[in-house]
Amino acid sequence: MRIFLFLYCILGYYYYCDATKKFPETFKFGVATSAYQIEGAWNEDGKGVSIWDHITHTKPYHIKDNSNGDVACDSYHKYKEDVMLLKDLGVDFYRFSISWTRVLPSGYVNKINWKGVEYYNNLIDELLKNDIKPMVTLYHWDLPQTLQELGGWTNPLLEEYYAEYARLCFKLFGDRVKLWTTFNEPDLVCRMGYGRNLLAPAYNSSGIGDYLCGHTLLKAHAKAYHIYDDDFRKEQKGQIIIVLEFNWFMPKTNTTKDIGAAEAARDFSFGWWAHPIYLGNYPKSMIDLVAKKSAKQGFPKSRLPTFTEKEVEYIKGTSDFLGLNTYTTFLAAHMENTNDTIVSSRHDIGYSTSIEPKWEDTANPLFKMVPWGTRQMLRWIKEHYNSPEIFITENGCADKDALDDQLRIKYYREHLKSILDSMYEDKVNVTGYTAWSLMDNFEWIDGYRTKFGLYHVDFTSPNRTRTPKCSASYIKKLIKTYCPVEECE
Ligand code: NOJ
Repeated sequence: MRIFLFLYCILGYYYYCDATKKFPETFKFGVATSAYQIEGAWNEDGKGVSIWDHITHTKPYHIKDNSNGDVACDSYHKYKEDVMLLKDLGVDFYRFSISWTRVLPSGYVNKINWKGVEYYNNLIDELLKNDIKPMVTLYHWDLPQTLQELGGWTNPLLEEYYAEYARLCFKLFGDRVKLWTTFNEPDLVCRMGYGRNLLAPAYNSSGIGDYLCGHTLLKAHAKAYHIYDDDFRKEQKGQIIIVLEFNWFMPKTNTTKDIGAAEAARDFSFGWWAHPIYLGNYPKSMIDLVAKKSAKQGFPKSRLPTFTEKEVEYIKGTSDFLGLNTYTTFLAAHMENTNDTIVSSRHDIGYSTSIEPKWEDTANPLFKMVPWGTRQMLRWIKEHYNSPEIFITENGCADKDALDDQLRIKYYREHLKSILDSMYEDKVNVTGYTAWSLMDNFEWIDGYRTKFGLYHVDFTSPNRTRTPKCSASYIKKLIKTYCPVEECE
């Protein structure tokens, strides 16, 4: 059976060979995961409770299959096996995250959990022993529950608590970790966690909670960056970035209004974060629109908090390069009758989003396969943000639960070709690519139903057996040849 699958994968691979460009040999390839999605061992060896432990235990119905990350892929116990999978793929780096509560069970730096520290030391050492660089995310959505009880990211004090946690990680692991990322996808953290009730902590305070969250988070990011820059960089010689998510927006029609709506959507999703970090302060469109709506609603000042001039300067320039997660493209349309009485970031902006049914499906109906959208987006970033160095920190798609995942191979291949076009034709400076994900894992509110892995994980087996899918062979070959298909020059 395995031999047939192997042959099928190889044939499937060759079937798609038609490119002529390849990635330069300086280009870096890797794969990614995050702590809550794979580690399990949710309360072992002194780990504290995170907001994801809390929400999955207190409201299991919040997750589509009532599941949780208590065991997940059991990577806490199987990290050596995971490193072997990475070695087999031939990756240059592995992007994973540290669970704040595994290192600091209460969230505060006064009590370190040395067993948790040992786990990350072991993982980092095992990676380095196998010539794989660790790219470490300090925050991939699993806030300590104790800090959530103080209001989570809406509480400005979190800037300080996060910065202390970051400083500790630089101290503990920075002798070996040379690539740090402060936050993964702030847009999702704030919009879906505080503006809507989708991701933990499911606050549902659109137009207020999401903006407060963003404000604290941006300051916390900048503080961690400056701590690294001032106190560690000289000796440790690493780099530190933020990872932003950007799914492209196309205007729904060619009308001026919809074209404007797509631009507003770009500002309100990507610009919310990239503008303060690359250009200084929130995008003007965002500042103006929220201020206007807030005034109409009788708020004494804008619901979008204001940065002082000093803060604008402090945040500007705080990413050594741009970490970019990207998955799909949406349509944006002008919203005619926005309701002035509704307090919501959506109504502040005045656009609605939808999905183009004609575009090719992935196994996640919300995420169509739109590789040309990725190319447009990369060019747009280049034009609007002074040609930054871009490192793709996540890209991938959900496919059916099968080892023969030709749809995923197609997704990777087409996106990689688009990225090559951006690099060669549009002169966008892309230097790395990360496939999401090394293996099937806990996909947040979708639970274990949605599969993103290069490796299949058997969640019914106590051993959580990993088996390579066809896409693992595809990525392995890509890394060896620098070519998304085989006919490169
Ligand atoms: C982005 C997130 O960083 C990751 O945690 C998630 O699993 C993937 N998108 C896929 O939805």
